[in-house]
Amino acid sequence: TEEGTLYDRIGPDNLLTLLRHFYDRVRVHPDLASIFPGDWNETLNKQYAFMTGFLGGPPLYHQKYGHPRLRARHLPFPVTPTRARAWLACMKAALEATPDIRREDAAELYAALTKVAQHMVNSDDTSG
Ligand code: HEM
Repeated sequence: TEEGTLYDRIGPDNLLTLLRHFYDRVRVHPDLASIFPGDWNETLNKQYAFMTGFLGGPPLYHQKYGHPRLRARHLPFPVTPTRARAWLACMKAALEATPDIRREDAAELYAALTKVAQHMVNSDDTSG
């Protein structure tokens, strides 16, 4: 079970299922929905491409969009501590809704995303 990258262990089908569950939650979350552009297919495709490389699979995001510069790309959107917690709560619920991902792999992914989410915070809770 410790073999290969997280991408190998989770696999592209489970990753796509996970991200569908994730954006189903984000798009109705009162703290999150309003800051997204609203083209949920585009948002999902970008996140799928990014996560594929992030988990150790092929660098799809780099190939399509260039260097992620994730923090810079989030600056147009006010990412507050409350929104970072909400994003992670949606991810936790999405992982629970995807039982084909092994629990130790889910925990490893969640821990890695917690660090990235904290790094994305660019506004305090009194802004937008
Ligand atoms: C894009 C919000 C954390 C990866 C976006 C967009 C928003 C957003 C509003 C624009 C969507 C679009 O252009 O379609 C947030 C919030 C977060 C968060 C509120 C809370 C902390 C993360 C994390 C990751 C991530 C942890 C990576 C693991 C991405 C990627 C894009 C994106 C890859 C597409 C960038 C682009 O090409 O423009 N995010 N995000 N985000 N986010 Fe996040």
